[in-house]
Amino acid sequence: MGPLSAPPYTLHITWKELLLTASFLIFWNPPTTAQVMIEAQPTKVSEGKDVLLPVRNLPQEVAAYIWYKGQIMDFHQFITAYTIDTERIIFGPAYSGRETVYSNGSLLIRNVTKNDTGSYTVKIRKPAEETKGVTVHFTLYRE
Ligand SMILES: *[C@@H]1O[C@H](CO)[C@@H](O)[C@H](O)[C@H]1NC(C)=O
Ligand SMILES: *[C@@H]1O[C@H](CO)[C@@H](O)[C@H](O)[C@H]1NC(C)=O
Ligand SMILES: *[C@@H]1O[C@H](CO)[C@@H](O)[C@H](O)[C@H]1NC(C)=O
Repeated sequence: MGPLSAPPYTLHITWKELLLTASFLIFWNPPTTAQVMIEAQPTKVSEGKDVLLPVRNLPQEVAAYIWYKGQIMDFHQFITAYTIDTERIIFGPAYSGRETVYSNGSLLIRNVTKNDTGSYTVKIRKPAEETKGVTVHFTLYRE
């Protein structure tokens, strides 16, 4: 028996278990692209300072970025959006005048206040489909 032979327990795996394993792998193995990530810079911001929310591992062929305050992609929570093809910036009801969205999707919030603390969600819209929103959090550090 060489090292490549199956360990005995695999003989007891039923078809049902194999099917469950397969669907689990399919579920957790979406496209080969890396996960879109945002990490606030810095993660702790003091009042009056700026915070950048950079979007990493962007998918290719993005049509627009839409930033929301909180985790719900609701119109009232809509801060600002950037459309790639027209290079247009759009402002929503949650825009305070201190947010800047860049062409790489990152959001800069200047002169952070107590009210700014919490979650932000970016929706990355592709030309043909919509992807899920990605949420970022930062904590306001009060001196
Ligand atoms: C996006 O652009 C802004 C402004 O040019 C820059 O500060 C930031 O580092 C960029 N973010 C990434 C993830 O490249
Ligand atoms: C920052 O915001 C405070 C009020 O929240 C305001 O008094 C101050 O002038 C602002 N500072 C800058 C640099 O915009
Ligand atoms: C903070 O948010 C509350 C509720 O949304 C609002 O009434 C208040 O004016 C805000 N304060 C500042 C400094 O933006």
